[in-house]
Amino acid sequence: MKIAVIGTGNVGKSLGGSLVRAGHDVTFAAQDAEKTREVAAELGASAADTPAEAATAADVVVLAVPYVAAEDVTSGLADSTAGKIVIDATNPLKADFSGLATEGGGSGAETFARLLPQAHLAKAFNTIFAAVQADPDTHGTTVDALYATDDEHTADVVAELAASIGFRPVRVGPLSAARELEIMAWLNMRMQMLMGGDWRTSFVLVGAPGAATEG
Ligand SMILES: NC(=O)c1ccc[n+]([C@@H]2O[C@H](COP(=O)([O-])OP(=O)(O)OC[C@H]3O[C@@H](n4cnc5c(N)ncnc54)[C@H](OP(=O)(O)O)[C@@H]3O)[C@@H](O)[C@H]2O)c1
Repeated sequence: MKIAVIGTGNVGKSLGGSLVRAGHDVTFAAQDAEKTREVAAELGASAADTPAEAATAADVVVLAVPYVAAEDVTSGLADSTAGKIVIDATNPLKADFSGLATEGGGSGAETFARLLPQAHLAKAFNTIFAAVQADPDTHGTTVDALYATDDEHTADVVAELAASIGFRPVRVGPLSAARELEIMAWLNMRMQMLMGGDWRTSFVLVGAPGAATEG
């Protein structure tokens, strides 16, 4: 699959690297074009000068940027993502990491859906720490890629992508379920911050219904 990964940080590199290893055609874009070229070369991917350039050539666009950059990064993506699948892997953290910026309601994913109204939005990979995105076999067991979307075709594609890199895809509901996925990710992060963990804790839903895991 042709995938644009916007962001070359922890998530961009980890998830993007796993997608490359699974045989996908990955193009990176971020703000720093020089760093983007270095990351792409290191991982065997391509580099674009802008997110819009990367998205134009892609079937699927993965957003791996800080949530505070949502408006900036989407401002140039409306045309290039129209009719395409956009996977929001972000977590809408407050700048001081004290909680979620969406506490009053809604989710970051729904914000992206409003900013990119012609794209097919999915929330995915936000509950998986970068270290596990880079190495889905970390725990010696299959970790769940929990995802949410309103669109059936988007669900099939996200499930296919997640499975291709070694996760069990689990559809948790419509895009509004991104609220809970973001809260789950925050729960995991806060526990790591409080307990001094290794940032590899992962979710596995025991007994997930077949309809959620069959794509
Ligand atoms: N770290 C994790 O374990 C983890 C796991 C799941 C989800 N998340 C979420 O995933 C997102 C990324 O996390 P991260 O740890 O990868 O962050 P990070 O290491 O700080 O990387 C952020 C990336 O976003 C790019 N970026 C920032 N503003 C941009 C803009 N306006 N346009 C284009 N690119 C822009 C940066 O590009 P430049 O370097 O070129 O400025 C950088 O490559 C966050 O929302 C985070 O909450 C993180």
